Amino acid sequence: MSIEETEDKVILTHPREPTTKVSILKYGATVISWENKGKEQLWLSEAAKLDGSKPVRGGIPLVFPIFGKQKNEEHPTYKLPQHGFARNSTWEFLGQTSENPLTVQFGLGPENANKEIYNLWNEGKNNFTLILSIELGDDHLKTNIEVENNGDEAFDFNWLFHTYLKVPDVTDCLVTNLIDQKCYDQLLATEYIEKSPMVCFNEEFDRIYKKIDTDKIFQVVELGKVLINVQRENLPDSVVWNPWIEKSNGMADFEPKNGYLNMLCIEPGHVSDFVTLKNGEKWSGSQTISLGGCKTNNTS
Ligand code: BG6
Repeated sequence: MSIEETEDKVILTHPREPTTKVSILKYGATVISWENKGKEQLWLSEAAKLDGSKPVRGGIPLVFPIFGKQKNEEHPTYKLPQHGFARNSTWEFLGQTSENPLTVQFGLGPENANKEIYNLWNEGKNNFTLILSIELGDDHLKTNIEVENNGDEAFDFNWLFHTYLKVPDVTDCLVTNLIDQKCYDQLLATEYIEKSPMVCFNEEFDRIYKKIDTDKIFQVVELGKVLINVQRENLPDSVVWNPWIEKSNGMADFEPKNGYLNMLCIEPGHVSDFVTLKNGEKWSGSQTISLGGCKTNNTS
C-alpha cells in the first residue's frame, strides 16, 4: 500500500522505493518525517508533542494567517497567537490526487479549524478554504498550499512553511543565494542588506529575507557538498532560523538540548507583507525540497 491512513497520521510510501516515505500528522497537517532512501531529511524534536496539545517542534509546521505576532492593534490578526492557527488545527485528509508522483491533499476551513484560536481572527468572520498538497518524488518533497476566500469580504494573510531541515552539523553548513537581499534581523530589530556570499551558523540566527526572486534556489552546502535545494513558487520571502544554545534551552519541547546543531530552518513564505485576497479569489504557493546537486524541475 502506497498510502496508509491511521487515526492521527497519513504515511505515503514511494511505489518503487519502499524506503522513501513521508509521514503527515493530521494535527496541523504537519509533515513530521521525510525519509529518502532510508535517510531522514527533516529534524523533529524528541520532545515534540504529537498528541495535538501544542504545535509540533520540527518537521514542517504550517503558518497561517499571521507570521510571528501582529503588533498593529488595528489589524484583524492582532489577537491571534504567534504563527496563527493552521498548525494548531486538525486538518481533514482529502485523499490521493496523483499516483506519479504520489500526491495527497489535506483541507482546512472554519468548520475544522481550532475554534478558540480561529475566532480570534476578525471575530471568526473570515471564511476560507486551505488545500495542502504533498507530493513525494524520487528525490524531492513538494508542499503546495492553495488559499481561497469564500467569504463576502477581502482578508489579509501571511503564509509560511516552517521547514526544519536535518543537517549533520550546522556549523559545517552554508546557505547560498541570500547575498544582496534585504533582510530584517529579528535579533537586532534592524533591516539591512545581506552582504555575505554564503550565510553560516555559529550563534543564534533569526532573519527574514525579503522579496527574493523565486528563480533563486537556496542551497544548503555542507563541507563543499550540496545537501539540499529549496525551490519556491510564489513565495518571495524566507525566514532562516537557528535557536542556538540559550533559546533551545528555553523551549521545553526542544530535545535533545544540543539538537540545534542538527537542524536548520529555511522557511519559504509570504510574510514581509500580507497577501490580500478578495472574496471569491484563490492564491497558491509552494516549496520543493530536493536532495543533492542543483535540480531545476519538480517532477520525480
Ligand atoms: C521562526 C521565527 O520562524 O519561528 C522565530 O523567526 C521563532 O522568531 C521560531 O522563535 C519558532 O517559533 P515557535 O512559535 O514555533 O516557537
